[in-house]
Amino acid sequence: MDSNYPCGWQWAYAESPETFDAFAQAEDPDGLAVAALLKHSDWAEKRILEIGCGTGRWSVQLATASRAQEWVATEPSRKMLALAKQHDDTPASLMFHQAKAQAIALPDSTFDAIFAGWVLGYLKPTVFDEAIKEAQRLLKPGGHIWLFENGSTDGGIPQDARNIERLQNSGFELVESISTHLEFRDSAMGQQTLNALFAPHATPVVDKNGQVAHTICLWRL
Ligand SMILES: C[S@@+](CC[C@H](N)C(=O)[O-])C[C@H]1O[C@@H](n2cnc3c(N)ncnc32)[C@H](O)[C@@H]1O
Repeated sequence: MDSNYPCGWQWAYAESPETFDAFAQAEDPDGLAVAALLKHSDWAEKRILEIGCGTGRWSVQLATASRAQEWVATEPSRKMLALAKQHDDTPASLMFHQAKAQAIALPDSTFDAIFAGWVLGYLKPTVFDEAIKEAQRLLKPGGHIWLFENGSTDGGIPQDARNIERLQNSGFELVESISTHLEFRDSAMGQQTLNALFAPHATPVVDKNGQVAHTICLWRL
């Protein structure tokens, strides 16, 4: 994995996918991000590539709800992928493969669209450029790359303004900002999860109901 990820996240991807998954399961409980993405893109009967699928929460939800013909979910971490494969509601259209975004061993022009949630925006600039090049090689002409990324620079789940600038400079356009929240089982469990992932100075505070405000940005190239 790439060394620019904050330490807690890196540790979770490599060693503790359950910690990441506790965060992932709390994110956007009302499914607003999936609804927004599918409002803007019709993927029924299409071939879709997902980059950095993590523990597979979007893979299962989107492969099912989009009615894609084929959803190929890729992820470099062996342990994250192992957890992703344990979902018991995985549709037949969904396949998992171990791969980094910058090297996906599939033929040119294979996919109608590409999706990545919280992956590209956080890669080192050189790796980001390689990943975009690889994605464009794999896309059919006219296909789009869709991203979920954090939207907040002033509270909630933070986003580094430099990451937003990099997306804009690469031609990504902001399609929609989705106001949502994280919802943990309880406040203590939520705070423990966030403390394990975020740097101490940047850890969001979970309120007494186990919630944290959150903005998800939908980007498209
Ligand atoms: C914040 S997690 C997001 C996981 C998943 N997309 C989700 O939203 O639940 C970032 C993921 O990117 C993966 N990752 C790190 N470096 C990567 C790379 N070079 N190519 C593809 N994925 C990468 C990590 O292993 C991790 O699973």
